[in-house]
Amino acid sequence: MAFTNTRYEILRDLFKSQRLPLAFVDLDAFDFNIDVAAALAKKADKTLRLGTKSLRCLPLMERVLTHASLAFRGFLTFTAEETAFLAQSGHDDFLLAYPTVQPEDMNTLAWIVRQGKQLSVVVDSPEHITALHEAGKKHNLTFHICFEIDMAYRPLGNDTLHLGLRRSPIRTVEQALELVEFAKTVSHVKIDSIMGYEGHIAGTNDDIPGAGLKNNLLRGIKKASVRELSQRRRAIVGAVRSAGVELRFVNGGGSGSLSSTLQDESVTEGTIGSGLYASGLFHHFKEVKYKPSAFFALQVVRKPKDGMVTCAGGGYIASGAIEKSKLPLPVMPVGMKYVDLEGAGEVQTPLILPPNCPPLELGDPVFFQHAKAGELCERFNEIILIQGGHIIDRVKTYRGEGFAFL
Ligand SMILES: Cc1ncc(COP(=O)(O)O)c(C=O)c1O
Repeated sequence: MAFTNTRYEILRDLFKSQRLPLAFVDLDAFDFNIDVAAALAKKADKTLRLGTKSLRCLPLMERVLTHASLAFRGFLTFTAEETAFLAQSGHDDFLLAYPTVQPEDMNTLAWIVRQGKQLSVVVDSPEHITALHEAGKKHNLTFHICFEIDMAYRPLGNDTLHLGLRRSPIRTVEQALELVEFAKTVSHVKIDSIMGYEGHIAGTNDDIPGAGLKNNLLRGIKKASVRELSQRRRAIVGAVRSAGVELRFVNGGGSGSLSSTLQDESVTEGTIGSGLYASGLFHHFKEVKYKPSAFFALQVVRKPKDGMVTCAGGGYIASGAIEKSKLPLPVMPVGMKYVDLEGAGEVQTPLILPPNCPPLELGDPVFFQHAKAGELCERFNEIILIQGGHIIDRVKTYRGEGFAFL
């Protein structure tokens, strides 16, 4: 269901007796998003890995795994501690996608391996590999490692124009093979996978209503970039295999690139997280369409003047470069706008009402989406689950379980 004032009134009545602020997930939309991703995986005959940082709620992650058990395999995790939490909760098959060299993390990772769990740790440098090798030696075990390769687009062939993330320095076959050779010199690590995440494709909206020209430009750049990165990913994967490395998987993509990533023949699995909540920055992808499923509600506490309300709380700004798109998106009632000088406030958020706004009384909710997906769960201990227009359950977020992993 799209954002409408009728839907606003239905949700307002549904949450009438609940304490605000609250966060909720609409399971009808959430399950729809799981089905969208699972269908893409089935079409490509590949599997999906759950991007945990974008969900940060174990019961919802478990719902994905049971709802589409054939499509989903494993977790793309964000810290060693978090991975241990999931292992302790009975789960398996982890790709820790962000490197670490901290001794305490190494001990945690060793503990996970000793539990008999399948774990690959992302590396991109001799330093990362050495840290894992030393820890492997100390704990008398072998760590499986995953090479992350840089998928950014450099149309000029050099660093002057770098369209994409700044993560791994490995961009070429030669650089990848150099790291393979280095890994072969140490005994307590074994390369078992490659990850090439095209964040600039997966996270850039290119079907924004009313922005035809910009959309076309972005799609043109994306198309050229996908062509270039797919060739490069294939070449690196092929060369690493030819160097005698057996690869258990090649991981790529994210919510907004799921279709194109899974079409790359060198990729064996895609990652999805944010698309399942379809938060504010995940609405307008040309290649895949998700339904917004995760929201929060603030209480109207003041009316500073006609045509304006002020809500309690709301300053849940998303991470990343500072820009307006990182503000929470007020979605219902439809058409509410921030006051430029205040934005989303620490304890109070004023909003300008549109002319046709349904009447808002003190105590009424206003519904928002966080710009990012998992970050919503760092603000709430629990998520209310609704389905078929009813509240059916309440589940704990990572924060509600007592964790602040990062
Ligand atoms: C390595 C990696 N893969 C995939 C993703 C995409 O996840 P999502 O589906 O939440 O966009 C991310 C997000 O930052 C990532 O870091």
